[in-house]
Amino acid sequence: MCGIVGYVDRSGNPAALDVLDTGLSSLEYRGYDSAGVALADDDLTVVKREGKVEALTAALATEAPDDVAVGIGHTRWSTHGPPSDTNAHPHTDCTGNIAVVHNGIIENYDTLKAELQERGHVFESETDTEVIPHLIEDGLDRGCDRETAFRGAIDRLEGSYAVVATFADENELLATRQDSPLVVGLGNDGYYLASDVPAFIEYTDRVTYLEDGEFVRVTPTGVSVTDIEGTEIEKSISTIDWDPEDAGKSGYEHYMLKEIQEQPRALRKCLRGRVDEIEGRVSLDLDLDRSGVDSTHLVACGTSYHAALYGAQLLRAQGIPAQTFLANEYDETCLAGERPLVVGVTQSGETADTLGALRTAQAAGAETLAVTNTIGSSAARECDHALFVRAGPEIGVAATKTFASQQTALHLLALWLGGGDVDPGHIAALRAIPEQVQSILDDDSAREVAAELADSAAYFFIGRGPQHPVALEGALKLKEISYEHAEGFAAGELKHGPLALVTPETPIIAMVTGYDERARKTVGNVKEVQARGAPVVAVTDGKADVEQYAQHVLTVPETTPEIAALLANVQLQLLAYWIARDMGRPIDKPRNLAKSVTVE
Ligand code: F6R
Repeated sequence: MCGIVGYVDRSGNPAALDVLDTGLSSLEYRGYDSAGVALADDDLTVVKREGKVEALTAALATEAPDDVAVGIGHTRWSTHGPPSDTNAHPHTDCTGNIAVVHNGIIENYDTLKAELQERGHVFESETDTEVIPHLIEDGLDRGCDRETAFRGAIDRLEGSYAVVATFADENELLATRQDSPLVVGLGNDGYYLASDVPAFIEYTDRVTYLEDGEFVRVTPTGVSVTDIEGTEIEKSISTIDWDPEDAGKSGYEHYMLKEIQEQPRALRKCLRGRVDEIEGRVSLDLDLDRSGVDSTHLVACGTSYHAALYGAQLLRAQGIPAQTFLANEYDETCLAGERPLVVGVTQSGETADTLGALRTAQAAGAETLAVTNTIGSSAARECDHALFVRAGPEIGVAATKTFASQQTALHLLALWLGGGDVDPGHIAALRAIPEQVQSILDDDSAREVAAELADSAAYFFIGRGPQHPVALEGALKLKEISYEHAEGFAAGELKHGPLALVTPETPIIAMVTGYDERARKTVGNVKEVQARGAPVVAVTDGKADVEQYAQHVLTVPETTPEIAALLANVQLQLLAYWIARDMGRPIDKPRNLAKSVTVE
């Protein structure tokens, strides 16, 4: 969703412009239809531009002072009002002395706006956010001090928000949050406020996470956090163990390609300390009574939902009943008569739909577990337990390394819940994953196949068992970054309808690994589509002899059926990437999408 950054200099060498510009570039994955900053000196300078952050950066070079100590910035993903210079944040009050950035949705903004307009306030934008500076102005007009006016304004809001305000001629930022993330960075040169750590990781790795309903005042002399009553709160400081280089492109053309390439390292981290080859055990640092887990519900959205579908199969293989739900379809009826462990699978830990499902589960008394990449995220903090997938920062909107890490973490979770004792062959297969992924990354075949397939009428992905969620994920990845029509199916479902769509213009990407009953049946499906003239791309380890029916082959190393599904997905990521790249798409920032969807 939207990205927020704020800065207060404490070094005497004011660099707010640079910090905000850099922070917004790092946060652009959260939204990229417009961006803006407000710099607080004697007056406020507000510069806003529709389009990507680079359009704002160009404007800042001529329109903004570069010696200001305090400021706020925002990159937007529109919810109210189309992308435009005027609808871009920050928004100001009538005097132009108060500027506000906001992430979330103010549900009662039309009532507030009508009330303020009646009192003479003039609005410029179509956004919900603009009511906030006007409400603060209203409080100041009534004689309140800035903090009281800010709190009074927030008190009137219904909905979700992370809000940061700055004021002309004041070295101070005021901020708060409700159902939308906000984190404080504590650096030697200054203090930072942001919706996500990459905004300031280059300057500091010391952070404090704000909770819903907490207020923060940031000045050059310190950061004070108070609760809703104004009582000071002692906050703990965490250290982020990301390398700033992790959040940069490191010479790759796109973050997505960099993140695909980072998978061996991410997976090594996910496995580290959790798999003991000598003892033949999987151990997880979870304070959860696994003997009490009779059944599980997995709730998630998008790519994470595909990981959840995969994880549920592995849980069931351990004898643990597991059902998967789209988080936005999860309600109390799903829990009727059951007391499952509810597992929220969410890379960001901030997806509103998934948080909503987890809260529904908690309200019904269920124990909850977040499987997430983000320490300090709402899911990690609100759930009873958290299992971190340890993929490191993912900036490309299309999830890649976090999916592979989610698959691996869920695999470990299934084994752990199943008792933790694992046969040596299985342990060896787990430990071999990073190296096997690397061998796929070293192979150029997907790039060559992509060049031959680009511009097809549609693309269909098929797989069975653990390869079914991977077929769904392969199609999602391709459609989101190439804008091509792509669908994933359980291979067995083809003949129940989708076969009608199959023509010589629709490549079929078939995952056929191992040589079991499933693989044999999928080979049968491949023959059916081949008979209809469809070009076939076989993603295979060569055991089922499917190559003879395929125009193109993408190879994966031999392993267990579950791990084969992780490996096949890496070939699909590369295929999607190169098709989109050949088509000249903006791969890291697909149209209409945002990395972290914090509205329902
Ligand atoms: C697609 C993608 C999305 C996310 C979904 C859930 O590439 O990234 O489908 O998987 O929005 O996000 P998280 O995992 O942050 O809950």
